[in-house]
Amino acid sequence: MSAALSELIGGIRTVVESGRDPASTGSAVADILQPYLGRDDLLTSEQMAPAEGCYRQHVLHVEPGGSFSVVSLVWLPGQCTCIHDHVSWCVVGVHKGEEHETVYEAQGSNGDRHLRVTGEMKNPAGMVAALVPPGDVHHVANGGDCLAVSLHIYGADIGKLGSSIRRNYDLEVRQQNATPAIA
Ligand SMILES: [Fe+2]
Repeated sequence: MSAALSELIGGIRTVVESGRDPASTGSAVADILQPYLGRDDLLTSEQMAPAEGCYRQHVLHVEPGGSFSVVSLVWLPGQCTCIHDHVSWCVVGVHKGEEHETVYEAQGSNGDRHLRVTGEMKNPAGMVAALVPPGDVHHVANGGDCLAVSLHIYGADIGKLGSSIRRNYDLEVRQQNATPAIA
């Protein structure tokens, strides 16, 4: 682990141990993460190694007791997630490349359950965002033509869980401006 990553983890620890609510924790951790993004001394080449077929997760740190975890996600061009939400608060920072994110809201009930697109963003290196459940349903893809690497900090033990994904959403997607048919 690099000295810069160790320093970043120390800063995150201070915030998490202060016992704030999830939204305030996410916001404070995002502020701490941002200046580290893009630094050449943050991650080793092994921690930014991609995989063919699917984006790759490297678990960089799990806090003893599991109060937070830090992972890198590495994406070849075109690789993407399913539409998903998360087990805990989550802070995302783009370290290299460009990630395209689509945000959804689950709507309807019973036989008409569907997703509505509520936002589409192109997130370049240096961008940070905090996600706090509920309302954190999204899809992320490497929309650029070179490697993308992002840092993710979760308020959960990803070493035990294996992933931050709570649920995948295999529902019809309706665009933001679509109007329902009137019978
Ligand atoms: Fe996510």
